[in-house]
Amino acid sequence: MNILDGKLVSAKIKEDIKKEAAAFTAQSGRKPHLVAILVGNDGGSETYVASKMRNCELVGFESTNIRYDVDVTEDELLAKIQEINGDANIDGLIVQLPLPKHIDPERVTEAIDYRKDVDGFHPINLGRMQRNLPCFIPATPYGIMLMLEYYGIETAGKKAVIVGRSNIVGSPMSILLARNSNPGNCTVTVTHSRTANLKEEVQAADIVVAAIGRKHFVTADMVKDGAVVIDVGINREESTETKSGFKLYGDVDYDAVSKKASWITPVPGGVGLMTIVGLLKNTLEAAKGTVYSK
Ligand code: GUN
Repeated sequence: MNILDGKLVSAKIKEDIKKEAAAFTAQSGRKPHLVAILVGNDGGSETYVASKMRNCELVGFESTNIRYDVDVTEDELLAKIQEINGDANIDGLIVQLPLPKHIDPERVTEAIDYRKDVDGFHPINLGRMQRNLPCFIPATPYGIMLMLEYYGIETAGKKAVIVGRSNIVGSPMSILLARNSNPGNCTVTVTHSRTANLKEEVQAADIVVAAIGRKHFVTADMVKDGAVVIDVGINREESTETKSGFKLYGDVDYDAVSKKASWITPVPGGVGLMTIVGLLKNTLEAAKGTVYSK
């Protein structure tokens, strides 16, 4: 078993981003700028946004975190998005999900100018991704593709099985792995809560992407010998063992599955760190105007 080491790969790519950000700043007189909107006090979301902001600073970006109470109205949020859309000093805008129930995530997603949509969630970016056109690719799938590329994992002609069909991971991942690109050219199956014979589907996979959001959902008996296993799960449980008071568990039963896999991502230290890299790369491209000209 070999480890797909998110710590190593993310550190290397972040060094490159840092150099490119410095060149951008020297040339333009300003730093690439990411704004993250956070609504409410969800513990996981707070941690993720704080990490995104910290990483922006590490690579020489400007970052702004705008916070709203959980009872902010949809109209107030949409007005703020419009204001940011029109601000030439802001390159990228993300609204951390999930949002409170009274706010429609589709309306919010579509309100963001697709040229600032560094999460890649806007239907224009999604459609352009499907067509293999320049676009912002959702950060987690983007990070996974960068990791597969870094380790030279053979994907063409392989059977990839994705567990989970979310807008954020499973669905875009299925498009990317099926595209005529490298990595890509897989035969992709998307499985979900209504899939019959889920175990048999996963057993047939050369590449498994577990993105279901359930601790240790993928067990060793579900995985073929030699499979490449990508674990997207970040399941937080309270713990007295760690300084933070929480312990993270993947969607894959790592100890058992790693005995069968040819390559596997650990949790933590795998995909989560690559998600940040995907977001930083998109923000840099937004600033430089290389995906959509300014
Ligand atoms: N919630 C979980 N993952 C993400 C992400 O990549 N972007 C946003 N905006 N919210 C998330």
